Amino acid sequence: MTTGRQSLFLVLEGLDGAGTTTIAGLVATELRARDLQVCLTAEPTDGPLGSVLRAHVKCEINLDPQTAALVFTGDRADHLDRMIRPALRRGQWVVCDRYLLSTLAYQGAEGVARETVMAASARFDIPDLTVVLDVPEKVRAERLATRSNTDRYEDQELSDVLRKSYEESIALLRAAGHRIDVVDASLAPEMVLADVIGRLDLPG
Ligand code: TMP
Repeated sequence: MTTGRQSLFLVLEGLDGAGTTTIAGLVATELRARDLQVCLTAEPTDGPLGSVLRAHVKCEINLDPQTAALVFTGDRADHLDRMIRPALRRGQWVVCDRYLLSTLAYQGAEGVARETVMAASARFDIPDLTVVLDVPEKVRAERLATRSNTDRYEDQELSDVLRKSYEESIALLRAAGHRIDVVDASLAPEMVLADVIGRLDLPG
């Protein structure tokens, strides 16, 4: 008998270098191996606003923080409409690399009022689970040092303010009813994968 869910909306979050893209990919592969239909997706998206945002993240253009927050939020609205909601309606498991928590944490760290982001996101779907990958600063710095290009938010000097902003944003979303689990992501990817999979209500 199937006791688990028909579909689920899972979000992976964390600071740059935490491994959200790697773990999202591993989770999707594991779920597919269990014969589940999976939609693996990410923000910024591949859509029209996502390409503007990637240019911003790579410092090819400079959006002021308020504008960036609005465009990230618009990209999310488009993402929900085009991809996430249709996938959930089809009964798929959505694995999303970054979502609302990223805007609250990153643009919140740049001085954008989180209440305005929350108000603009009032009609957005709440993930069934958001997993925040937590890595010690030393591990994160080592991972970022191996990257050839430095993105806008990878600056080491930003790390303390971003960490604090994540903590405040997690508290805000939890108070709004979001389920958010913080996971130790300094371990090997297979261990982190097992931890995340253990938190899902998988069909039995
Ligand atoms: P990534 O593709 O390596 O995860 O990089 C995306 C970057 O965009 C990362 O630095 C976080 C940033 N970002 C925001 O600042 N706000 C957001 O809402 C999202 C989704 C990402």
